[in-house]
Amino acid sequence: MRINSVCILGGTGFIGRQIANRLANTPIQIKVLTRHRERNRHLLPIPNLQLFEANVHDPEHLQNHLEGVDAVINLVAILNEGRKPGQRFEDIHVHLVEKLLVACRESGVKRLLHMSALGADPEGPSRYQQTKGEGERMALAAHNRDLAVTVFKPSVVFGPADTFLNTFAGMLKLAPMMPLPTPGARFQPVYVDDVAAAFEATLEHRDSFGQTYELGGPHIYTLEALVRYVAELLELRRAIIGLPDSLSRLQGRLLQHFPGKPYTLDNYLSTQVDNVCQHNALPDLGIHPTALEAVAPGYLGGTRTRYRYDEWRREAGRDN
Ligand SMILES: NC(=O)c1ccc[n+]([C@@H]2O[C@H](COP(=O)([O-])OP(=O)(O)OC[C@H]3O[C@@H](n4cnc5c(N)ncnc54)[C@H](OP(=O)(O)O)[C@@H]3O)[C@@H](O)[C@H]2O)c1
Repeated sequence: MRINSVCILGGTGFIGRQIANRLANTPIQIKVLTRHRERNRHLLPIPNLQLFEANVHDPEHLQNHLEGVDAVINLVAILNEGRKPGQRFEDIHVHLVEKLLVACRESGVKRLLHMSALGADPEGPSRYQQTKGEGERMALAAHNRDLAVTVFKPSVVFGPADTFLNTFAGMLKLAPMMPLPTPGARFQPVYVDDVAAAFEATLEHRDSFGQTYELGGPHIYTLEALVRYVAELLELRRAIIGLPDSLSRLQGRLLQHFPGKPYTLDNYLSTQVDNVCQHNALPDLGIHPTALEAVAPGYLGGTRTRYRYDEWRREAGRDN
C-alpha cells in the first residue's frame, strides 16, 4: 500500500516526536494535531511536517482534518485521569478511538496504526489497562477491506525524554532514601527509536495489516533493579527500600491526592501483571532491540559515567 500522507494524533509526545523524526526522512507528508500549537513549534523545522491546533474530541473537527489523508497514527493516551470532563480514561482511550474510527470511515482513510500498551486488557486489573484494552479491541475489530489496522503494544519505553527513568532519576536526587512500591514488578524496557522504527517499517507493509505487535527490549528487569541502575548511573548512594504489597497499595491511595499525582492506586494495580512480552515482534520486523545499557548512560549518567560512556563509544568506533 502506498502512503503519501499521515496524520498523527499525539504526535507532539515522547513517542510521537520520534516517529515524526523518522518520517522526516521520507517523502510522506506529516500532519500533527495538537491542543497547543505554540508550545510545540519546535516540531516545525521538520520540512514535511505541518502542525495544526485541533480539538480531536470534536467529531466534525477530527473528520475535517482527516480528509485527504492516507494513514492515521493514534498515540493519544493518559496515565492519570484529570478532574475536568473529557479527562477520564474512557474519554481518551475508548470514546476518542470510537470517534477516530468513524472519522476514518467517513473521510476514506485507508490505514490506521493504533498505539496500545503491553498489559492492555479489558479484563486487566487497572482502569488504565482496561480502557486501553477496550480501545485496542475496537481498533482491531474495525480492520477490514477499506481500513487496514495494526496495533502496537510496547512495554515501558525509554529514551532521552522518557518519563520513566527520568522520573526515578529526579526522585533519587531529592533524598538519601527512596521507598519503592512494587519493587518486584517486571518490565522489558524498549528504546523509543525502536518503537518508532516499528511504526515506520509497518506503515505500508501488507503483512502487518490486522496484526498486533508486542514490542520489548532485549532484557527483563524488576523495578528495583531499574531504580538501582539509575542510582548507579547518577553516582548516587541511596537506600532504596522495596515496600511490601500492602504498603505499595497504601502509597498509591495516598499519593494520588498529591498535586501532579506522583503515584496512584491505578498505577499500583497496573503493576499486578508482568509488563513483559510473550513474543517480542521487533526482530520479526527486522529491528534489533537496543539494550537499555547502550543508551541510558548517555542521558542519565553523571559526569564520570558519561565520560566513561564516551570512552566506550570511542573504543567501539561509535563516536559520531
Ligand atoms: N511512554 C511509554 O512508556 C509507553 C509505554 C506503553 C505504551 N505507550 C503508549 O504510547 C502512546 C504515546 O505515549 P507517550 O509516552 O508518547 O505519551 P505522551 O508523551 O504523554 O504524549 C501523549 C500525547 O497525547 C496528546 N494528549 C494527551 N492528552 C490528551 C487529551 N486529553 N486530548 C487530546 N490529546 C491529548 C498530547 O498532545 P498535545 O498535548 O500536543 O495535544 C501528547 O502529544 C500512548 O498511547 C501510550 O499509552 C507509552
